[in-house]
Amino acid sequence: MIIQDFQEKKNNRVPISMVTCYDSWSAALIAQTEIDCVLVGDSLAMVVYGHDSTIPVSVGTMAAHTAAVRRGMPEGFIIGDLPFLSCRKGLEQAMDSVGSIMSAGANAVKLEGAAGNVELVAHIVESGVPVMGHLGLTPQSVHQLGGFKVQGRGQGAAETLRNQALELEGAGCFALVLEAIPAKVAAEVSRALTIPTIGIGAGPDVDGQVLVLQDLLGVNTSFRPKFVRTWMDGSTLIREALDAYHRDVTSGQFPNGRESYR
Ligand code: KIV
Repeated sequence: MIIQDFQEKKNNRVPISMVTCYDSWSAALIAQTEIDCVLVGDSLAMVVYGHDSTIPVSVGTMAAHTAAVRRGMPEGFIIGDLPFLSCRKGLEQAMDSVGSIMSAGANAVKLEGAAGNVELVAHIVESGVPVMGHLGLTPQSVHQLGGFKVQGRGQGAAETLRNQALELEGAGCFALVLEAIPAKVAAEVSRALTIPTIGIGAGPDVDGQVLVLQDLLGVNTSFRPKFVRTWMDGSTLIREALDAYHRDVTSGQFPNGRESYR
């Protein structure tokens, strides 16, 4: 996948598949699949580090995980998230943040929200860096939103969302994540935009879908919102494998002769 493929897929109505990825070993696995692109999402703050929001993660951490993903996936299209406040302390800080994520191996960055970001998006794009926007539930604003709640409900909110989406497209975003908004609103925004929309909890009438890898693999049993489908019962499989390992170790069955050096 290269940047132009995003637009081509929208033009040809071919849905885009995106999945989060935070480390080298899962990147290497994803690289052997047909998944279109990966997002090194700041959701890693919650999924990997166990925080209750995405707020505590730094640019340095995001860059380290982006570099790990790139090492596991030398060829794939990687979007790196710009974390909380990493672009809100002036242009110089913003461009340093972008530089860190891109130097770590990303092909593009993702930035949450439109208010106060539109000129910055244009500047990043003019600097040669593709930008993916992110509207709807923007987790970095969890305190402003009063929780992880569905956004864009009601005519006024839907209209604001649509206008912000158009502003981000005008600023040069190559794609837009729409998170946790009513399917009807997501469909309208997707129709209004020429760039592709990638939904998570945004219904079927968008131009692509993204899910957190651990959610779709069924590894994360404590987080099962309505929009998550699992394609594997990962937590059961992993628990069974670990218990089998434990049994083999404690019964003296592991290692055997073939697994030992002579
Ligand atoms: O951080 C993340 O993983 C995201 C996706 C859920 C879109 O922003």
